[in-house]
Amino acid sequence: MSSQVSPQDVVNALRVVKDPNVGRDIVTLGYVKELEVGDSRVSFALQLTAPAGPARDQLVAQARAAVSALGVANVQVQVVEQAPARTAGHSLIPQVRHTIAIASGKGGVGKSTVAANLAVALNRAGAKVGLMDTDVYGPSVPVLMGGTGVPSVVEGRIEPPEEYGIKIMSMAFFLPKDEAVIWRGPMLHKTIQQFLGDVRWGELDYLLMDMPPGTGDIQLSLSQSIPLTGAVIVSTPQDLALSVASKAIAMFQKLNVPILGVVENMSYHVCRQCGHREEIFGHGGAREAAKKLNYAFLGEIPLDMSIREQSDSGKPVALDDSTIYGKAFQEVAEALVSQIVVADSKTGDEISIE
Ligand SMILES: Nc1ncnc2c1ncn2[C@@H]1O[C@H](COP(=O)(O)OP(=O)(O)O)[C@@H](O)[C@H]1O
Ligand SMILES: [Mg+2]
Repeated sequence: MSSQVSPQDVVNALRVVKDPNVGRDIVTLGYVKELEVGDSRVSFALQLTAPAGPARDQLVAQARAAVSALGVANVQVQVVEQAPARTAGHSLIPQVRHTIAIASGKGGVGKSTVAANLAVALNRAGAKVGLMDTDVYGPSVPVLMGGTGVPSVVEGRIEPPEEYGIKIMSMAFFLPKDEAVIWRGPMLHKTIQQFLGDVRWGELDYLLMDMPPGTGDIQLSLSQSIPLTGAVIVSTPQDLALSVASKAIAMFQKLNVPILGVVENMSYHVCRQCGHREEIFGHGGAREAAKKLNYAFLGEIPLDMSIREQSDSGKPVALDDSTIYGKAFQEVAEALVSQIVVADSKTGDEISIE
């Protein structure tokens, strides 16, 4: 063993540091980037928007102290400035800290359900969140989010409506209801670009992208348009074992998009009458498969009628974290924010700090 602390140890330690402006911890807020963990040395960057001042200095000092307390001799903290406004020539969404694709090998496994509930869970944890529906064939985000709002145009750009504090954008806003649309590759690409660059997302900690099923043009277009922080793979227990999800994983690997982890949806059912837990699709398949493939397992979401009912009526279960469903999504959200930091961290001998 060359180093005593792991990236996960550092992430856990940093969770005690709170941004005084928001009252939430800097890991949940997505500030921590470029973590490098070596032999008795740790370095990381804090991506901050607020101008320099006592609050910022205090934040940096607290972050440094939290990691030093783990017994790390050499702690280096770098502050990087979050772009204050949209700047031409830069990325399409310079004010967004993290972009996360919610994907799967096939349809109907609960991508949109997971995307909507993760957006709610992250927002409830204090983060600024956007939810972009990239499924132009079967857009479902506005319904899942109880959509009553519609986009407007402000200064020539699209202002996304906000539902439960989350900015949302979807092709459903622009298509005639129940009308099939034939999309060609270039049209898809243009739409994705517009959903990024022409939408006033503003400053966001996380922009979640609800993907269409499979491994098609949209995935390609998205990964070509912006640097994705990573992808979350949603799978039912049997799908990962049966390698349906592995196709999505392989595609993201080919596109150089990190896999942030796997969520097992429809994992088990708890009987409402007797509380008995039933494992309808043979629970645990995704966790095992993730472990075998060396991906983080982000958690399990039960199969329950109330999840479908509440989704249909536009009230994501994650709005109420006193239920087992709400708690399940809260836990997945927490695992995800840790994984975002850990996944792009470097450990051990290959790092060099001047
Ligand atoms: N954990 C769950 N328990 C019960 N129903 C679920 C669950 N997850 C998703 N569903 C339901 O399954 C259907 C497909 O989910 P959806 O999120 O639209 O999948 P996808 O986006 O992958 O096609 C929807 O009717 C949804 O309400
Ligand atoms: Mg969907």
